[in-house]
Amino acid sequence: MTNKMWGGRFAQGPSAIMAEINASIDFDKRLYAQDIAGSKAHAAMLAKQGIITKADATAIRKGLDEVKAEIDAGKFKFSAALEDIHMNVESRLKELIGEPAGRLHTARSRNDQVITDLRLFTRDAIDQLDAGLVDLLRALAEKAEAHAATIMPGFTHLQSAQPITFGHHMLAYVEMLSRDWGRFADARKRLNENPLGSAALAGTSFPIDRAMTTKELGFKSAMRNSLDAVSARDFLLETLAAASICAIHLSRLAEEIVIWSSAQFRFVKLSDKFTTGSSIMPQKRNPDAAELVRAKPGRILGAFMALAVVMKGLPMAYAKDMQEDKQQAFDALDNLALAIAAMAGMVRDLEPNKDILRAAANSGYATATDLADWLVQNVKMPFREAHHVTGRIVALAEKKSCLLSDLSLEEMQAIHSGITKAVFKVLTVEASVASRLSLGGTAPSNVRRESKRWKKFLKGK
Ligand code: ARG
Repeated sequence: MTNKMWGGRFAQGPSAIMAEINASIDFDKRLYAQDIAGSKAHAAMLAKQGIITKADATAIRKGLDEVKAEIDAGKFKFSAALEDIHMNVESRLKELIGEPAGRLHTARSRNDQVITDLRLFTRDAIDQLDAGLVDLLRALAEKAEAHAATIMPGFTHLQSAQPITFGHHMLAYVEMLSRDWGRFADARKRLNENPLGSAALAGTSFPIDRAMTTKELGFKSAMRNSLDAVSARDFLLETLAAASICAIHLSRLAEEIVIWSSAQFRFVKLSDKFTTGSSIMPQKRNPDAAELVRAKPGRILGAFMALAVVMKGLPMAYAKDMQEDKQQAFDALDNLALAIAAMAGMVRDLEPNKDILRAAANSGYATATDLADWLVQNVKMPFREAHHVTGRIVALAEKKSCLLSDLSLEEMQAIHSGITKAVFKVLTVEASVASRLSLGGTAPSNVRRESKRWKKFLKGK
């Protein structure tokens, strides 16, 4: 059988292999709501411009509502022979309303139709990611406020470096993920332009009103070059780039959760909701959700790469290559939304183990920098010399296997006579974090202020 829609000049139907490589209905049926919204706007515009009759437009719009209801209800029979969502919808419309259905495709092409659908879809997907990110940011800001003064070791090279607060650590992710949120907002702004009316590639001779469909579909403006409108996929690349960076950020927190929840660290306890048991090792509580979030960048960066390679070197205007823009992108956006939701759940449920965190912060001479800073400020030593003196004091504590604060004043004075008992005030981890009051520093008062600021900012979002 030749294709019902474009088969006029083809004597034979496509081979089974051709049909299989050509059909996109299995994945682009996901665009049905956007496709129908676009067609309804197009039909209304054609009628207003006198290109089709009002009666035909009314029949088309009503029929499209019926098609949508059938798909919503799962009653629609998708046909691979009809290739894609556009032709499946139109063919069913013809069955429902007859001849007027054939007038819907006036002054458009599947080339501007598909990209209208995909822009609308991506806009919706970004709106969902936006809501998910706001929820995750809230969860992090709340955890930060609750643990503004919970002390933990801060790491560089995954070696204990200086004490920080758990809240400060959470707020680092708030900052990162809020930039992701901003990147999606930027991408949304740029993609919100209307390609409909560009037709196959050159525009149309019909007196269409692009401003009207622009308004009805909620686009900001009409795209101003028909070749660009049907060929551009950078809006999706940009969205996938933002998704990739966001997934990378999530994977870093996921990795920390995996490390923190291990029996060797025990920094946090994860809830049963986001862990699984082992089938043979009863003692285990595996951080599967965190591990899966850690793995998601694989497919999400993969989707960016797949589309970038499809688009690279592609001549103007539409080419069927572009049909390959959808599957991985859908998968990436779905999986990012899932990862964000899983992370929000994990963050809400995780319980920092305060005693273990504090003990870990106290080991490894994490207040050595505080001692050096004290020598600079109170003994007026150049920092380089203070670093050296501190090194000798740390070596002594190491030899005695004790904390810096367990050394006696005499022992320290034997290394440098200028040291007084006031030094003990800076040797505790509490004093260390409390003193980090510089803008952006880890002091509990800073963390409290910043988490409140974020919570307030997120309230209206
Ligand atoms: N299924 C196609 C796609 O996803 C729709 C556009 C087809 N256009 C064409 N000229 N064959 O890109």
